[in-house]
Amino acid sequence: MHNETELLKEKIVALKKKRNAVILAHNYQIGDVQDIADYVGDSFGLSRVAAETKADVIVFCGVHFMAESAAVLAPSKTVLLPERLAGCPMADMVTVEALRAKKKEYPHATVVTYVNSSAAVKAESDICVTSSNAVNVVNSLDAEEILFVPDMNLGSFVADRTDKHVILWQGYCLTHDRVRARDVEIAKQQHPDAVVVVHPECRPEVVQAADYAFSTSGILQFAKNCKHQKLIIGTEMGLLHRLHLENPSKEFYLLHQGLICPNMKFTTVGKVVEALETMTSVITVADDIRESARRALERMLAVS
Ligand code: 13P
Ligand code: SF4
Repeated sequence: MHNETELLKEKIVALKKKRNAVILAHNYQIGDVQDIADYVGDSFGLSRVAAETKADVIVFCGVHFMAESAAVLAPSKTVLLPERLAGCPMADMVTVEALRAKKKEYPHATVVTYVNSSAAVKAESDICVTSSNAVNVVNSLDAEEILFVPDMNLGSFVADRTDKHVILWQGYCLTHDRVRARDVEIAKQQHPDAVVVVHPECRPEVVQAADYAFSTSGILQFAKNCKHQKLIIGTEMGLLHRLHLENPSKEFYLLHQGLICPNMKFTTVGKVVEALETMTSVITVADDIRESARRALERMLAVS
């Protein structure tokens, strides 16, 4: 007897073969989608896989900017986003026009752009970063002044770890920005023997109050290697799926119940099947934008 999920999984195996497709899923995707993916990872790891894959089709289970990055790094592949409407409110907080205006205000600044941004914004930037390499990339630059776009929280995290002057774009992740330092205090009171690990998209005062701050893959690595048995997790709740799978004997508590990104939850296994059957939605990037965006992404990949 097959249940519906098993049937969908069988369809995916057949469709993947037919299309020569690879399925990439971000760490914030729902558990069922992570389970059918060939690779589950953070933004940086997934862009690496997209750049190197031999597959003809990349199904990106994530949000729009991630699929765009795959399209930029793998121009000969077909990149599918199973849910066309999965966007990122933080990426939408910077437009090309606004960035051009800011660059005029700071003509000597090196523009460092978080991958959580549109390809068009990346194309206006000198180099990209992800949460796992932002500090290293900024410190590697031969520049005194940095315009950090669009996440002011990750930008502050970097500013605290570099001697360079960092100008912050005023964007933020709606999901991570919800957490307050008080939430860390409360969680520590509730679980006094737990360690608090947050994502650097959280506010600086939250990072300060926490014990550690890492990217999603950094949190996974830390959870696996640390001696702590109980961890309070300050990032999008999708990460708990892998944390539980990889550390069955450890306990994980979500720092704040609002740590859920609706856009990351749009993708379902059914939508992945539909994407492979109908070959939609194809994500493309115009040639001129793609070339400049690729330069910024490849400069990042070269540093990391
Ligand atoms: P990473 O830590 O995987 O880079 O992701 C953070 C995020 O918010 C992706 O949307
Ligand atoms: Fe964007 Fe935040 Fe959602 Fe990531 S978690 S996609 S940064 S809104």
